[in-house]
Amino acid sequence: MSFVNIKKQYIAIGMLLFVVLFFFNSKPAFQCQITPEVTTYLPTIYGITPTYARLAQKADLTRLSQTLMLVKNFHWIVIEDSEKKTKLVENFLKESTLKYTHLNVKTNSSKHSTVMDINICLFKTDTFNTSWYCASGVEQRNLALDWLRKHLKQSEDKRGVVYFMDDDNTYSLKVFDEMRKINKVGVWPVGIVGGMRVEMPLVKDGKVSGYNAVWKPFRPFPIDMAGFAINATLFLEHPNAMFSRKVQSGFQESEILKYFTKTEDLEPLAENCTKVLVWHTRTQKPSIISPSKLKHPIPPDSHIEV
Ligand SMILES: *[C@@H]1O[C@H](CO)[C@@H](O)[C@H](O)[C@H]1NC(C)=O
Repeated sequence: MSFVNIKKQYIAIGMLLFVVLFFFNSKPAFQCQITPEVTTYLPTIYGITPTYARLAQKADLTRLSQTLMLVKNFHWIVIEDSEKKTKLVENFLKESTLKYTHLNVKTNSSKHSTVMDINICLFKTDTFNTSWYCASGVEQRNLALDWLRKHLKQSEDKRGVVYFMDDDNTYSLKVFDEMRKINKVGVWPVGIVGGMRVEMPLVKDGKVSGYNAVWKPFRPFPIDMAGFAINATLFLEHPNAMFSRKVQSGFQESEILKYFTKTEDLEPLAENCTKVLVWHTRTQKPSIISPSKLKHPIPPDSHIEV
């Protein structure tokens, strides 16, 4: 057997081995592309969060954003109540690693004088000044809905879930799993709200039959903003659906829901509304010493972002 022949045999055996390994390898290289994302569709959740400048704002946003980092396919729409986008929120979002859209619109305070519900106005304390702030978030949520409609019209995938989120509530990751199940409008209980341990839809035979609310129970939908989510496509089907300045406090939820559903059509989630997966927590207003009472006219910490 000549040397040349042996070499040919080796090459043939080598090629055969390569072909055998290629076809019978239990983990071919292209398998890694077949991930669950491709096979199971996960609708995008659009979380709409109005926010305004205050001492605890960054603390609240930090807590919320770190929950949201654990939610798959989440798009955060943050709307500042301000004439200009603030550096604090802009930098905060940039550093967050979340998919987000940053918007801003100033609440027109002059409009409030015609609205009787002064009870939703808070006395706001910034580091250096205090002012009245009316926390209804109407303009901010409506701006987010305008953005969402434009975005969905341009997107190939018009599906999704819209959830209105306060920046200081507490959200279990499970509530996001629940809302991805909705067809039109899903509802679930909200903890510590409306003067109750839990405010919730009452469910009979898998259908919503009423509500347990005691605060303004005559509302068409006596539920908190945190207690429902809406199929995003419905916002394209109902282009006029939006929040209104003309309704009294506590009626914003009813104002938006009336466009999409009726009580009997609500989809009770969180095990037929028996589980609390979101809490209407409120951050206590911090009390700090007024800068005018401090020794230094310009405190040495004034350049530190809090
Ligand atoms: C909700 O209640 C209905 C009717 O009693 C029942 O068929 C269904 O399995 C329940 N769903 C869950 C998730 O518990």
